[in-house]
Amino acid sequence: GRRVTVRDIAAAKQRHEKWPMLTAYDALTARVFDEAGIPVLLVGDSAAMVVYGYDSTIPVTVDDLVPLTAAVVRGSKRAMVVADLPFGSYQTGVSEALTSATRFMKEAGAHAIKLEGGHRVLPQVEALVAAGIPVMGHLGLTPQSVNVFGGYRVQGRGESGEELIADAKALEAAGAFSVVLECVPEDLAARVTASLSIPTIGIGAGGGTDAQVLVWQDMAGLTPHTAKFVKKFADVNTVLGDAARAYADEVVGGAYPAAEHSYK
Ligand code: KIV
Ligand code: NA
Repeated sequence: GRRVTVRDIAAAKQRHEKWPMLTAYDALTARVFDEAGIPVLLVGDSAAMVVYGYDSTIPVTVDDLVPLTAAVVRGSKRAMVVADLPFGSYQTGVSEALTSATRFMKEAGAHAIKLEGGHRVLPQVEALVAAGIPVMGHLGLTPQSVNVFGGYRVQGRGESGEELIADAKALEAAGAFSVVLECVPEDLAARVTASLSIPTIGIGAGGGTDAQVLVWQDMAGLTPHTAKFVKKFADVNTVLGDAARAYADEVVGGAYPAAEHSYK
């Protein structure tokens, strides 16, 4: 079968169908999520934290993310794979954004890219779309701006909500095919969703968006501390920890490997 495309994503909004997006950073989890029917996989710059162990998304580079994106593309068959442009790979302008996005498309086989911001990145969005690269926007709590926000806090309350709606409309007009809304009040996210013809993808934005996204390690219960908006759909931390302890016990006690694990 073929991959999910921007046309499928647009059609889902017409039919008022909600859909799930998950992050992925390697081939095996990409395969699991692909086979589970997740239509869009995001290689997020959240890899900075959940793969590389940094305490923000700021340090991660295009060089860090391209190989992860290539692995997710190789591990999946049906999902559309979206690559996040990291901090410092598109802010200076159109040419930098084109160079970075082109690397994700050519070297990794990404099908679309995502970048953070509204009015300040419209020239980049227009240039990427003109170059044939589908662009996913990202508004609200944009983690690459954590030092401007002074922490990870809800965005778009009060007056700034109107600004966010204007940014979302501007992204749509610039050609973005969808927009992530992170950590914003649910009524604001619902208003944005109603005023756009492209889909909104919420994370900590309530139930009124067209789609939802979560970092898989949060959703699966591997991350120790998570935000209020995260629901843990599994307890992978316990499953993996128990497996490691059982393995260690059997190696120390001599129960593993047994005859059936050994070559004659
Ligand atoms: O980097 C990321 O994982 C993201 C999503 C949470 C939207 O940008
Ligand atoms: Na991100």
